[in-house]
Amino acid sequence: MITRILDVSSEPLDEECIKEASEILKKGGLVAFPTETVYGLGGDATDKEASRKIYAAKGRPSDNPLIVHISEFSQLEAISSGLPETAKKLADAFWPGPLTMVVNKNEVVPYETTGGLDTVAVRMPNNPVALALINESGCMIAAPSANTSGRPSPTKASHVYEDLSGKIEAILDGGPVDIGLESTIVDLTEDVVTILRPGYINMDMLKEVVGEVRMDPGIVYNDKGTTSGAKPKAPGMRYKHYAPKGDLTIISGDEDAVISTINKMAAEAIEKGSKVGIISTSETAGKYTAGEVLIIGNRSDEGSIAHNLYDILRQFDELDVDIIFSESFATPKMGQAIMNRLLKAAGQKTIEV
Ligand code: TXA
Ligand code: MG
Repeated sequence: MITRILDVSSEPLDEECIKEASEILKKGGLVAFPTETVYGLGGDATDKEASRKIYAAKGRPSDNPLIVHISEFSQLEAISSGLPETAKKLADAFWPGPLTMVVNKNEVVPYETTGGLDTVAVRMPNNPVALALINESGCMIAAPSANTSGRPSPTKASHVYEDLSGKIEAILDGGPVDIGLESTIVDLTEDVVTILRPGYINMDMLKEVVGEVRMDPGIVYNDKGTTSGAKPKAPGMRYKHYAPKGDLTIISGDEDAVISTINKMAAEAIEKGSKVGIISTSETAGKYTAGEVLIIGNRSDEGSIAHNLYDILRQFDELDVDIIFSESFATPKMGQAIMNRLLKAAGQKTIEV
């Protein structure tokens, strides 16, 4: 199969491209499209065969459910059962936007889409291309991140092409995404709203709307970097994700101590013949004395760090580094979301200095 690239990166939106992509979806094919978080790999959420194709294209375990993307609140009502009041409140506050809600499903969504679960994850993305595609096709779109399973999520159309070229019908290229980390997932099927995956919408923002919110114990790490022992409720959070080829270690603590530790460890590794990469910020990059130093963003702008995280992990794969050292980014608003991904990429390896 030849994967077509449909350019929708300039305004006004190219309606012909949206029509072409919609036709593919309506015929049961797959189209990757931009959202404000990461690129998604879309198929008709009510079509079992389309969902099967999504798992196959990504090489994803079929027990890891997909997120259904909608453009109107009524679609959430149409695919759920016993929708709690909190769903409306959260939708009013955050949709369209980077929040996914897990609710009880009804028969409209097949088990192929939900990985066999009786619940379904739903979100309304805040991206004009994504919304136009949902509206034009008339489909609710099942879409996981458009990467090969185990690779960093795609934040540019070129990342999607690297991973899925030849495996899907088309990619809508809407340029680089805005946020760069996947949506916050909340579970609304229990008494207390529970965060299953941290993202741009953080605990404080959720509490302002629904009062009590808790974190899934399965994704809480203690100071040794290991979990409480509970299994994460979102199946996708159980897998070792986003692992770069190079062995990644996070160094955290006082800035000067972090820099001197990384310099020392990098020099030792290079001495032994390893190729070393360093994840730095624009504030610190000039202070590193060895290795391939890449700048993830500015410490003063945490959005820039979130935005570039996955791209930088892909760059280190291309550079074929053996060992990667990273600074730690426990920033005020998105720190939890950023560190959740970075710690996973590091297999939780952290050195406190
Ligand atoms: O920002 C995003 O959410 C992106 C864009 C494309 O919308 N999508 C995304 O999809 O990150 P994916 O498949 O990479 O991650 C979906 C996560 C997985 O961890 C999955 O296990 C979880 O959502 N999930 C889906 N349905 C669920 C359910 N019914 N119960 C619990 N977790 C669920
Ligand atoms: Mg994913």
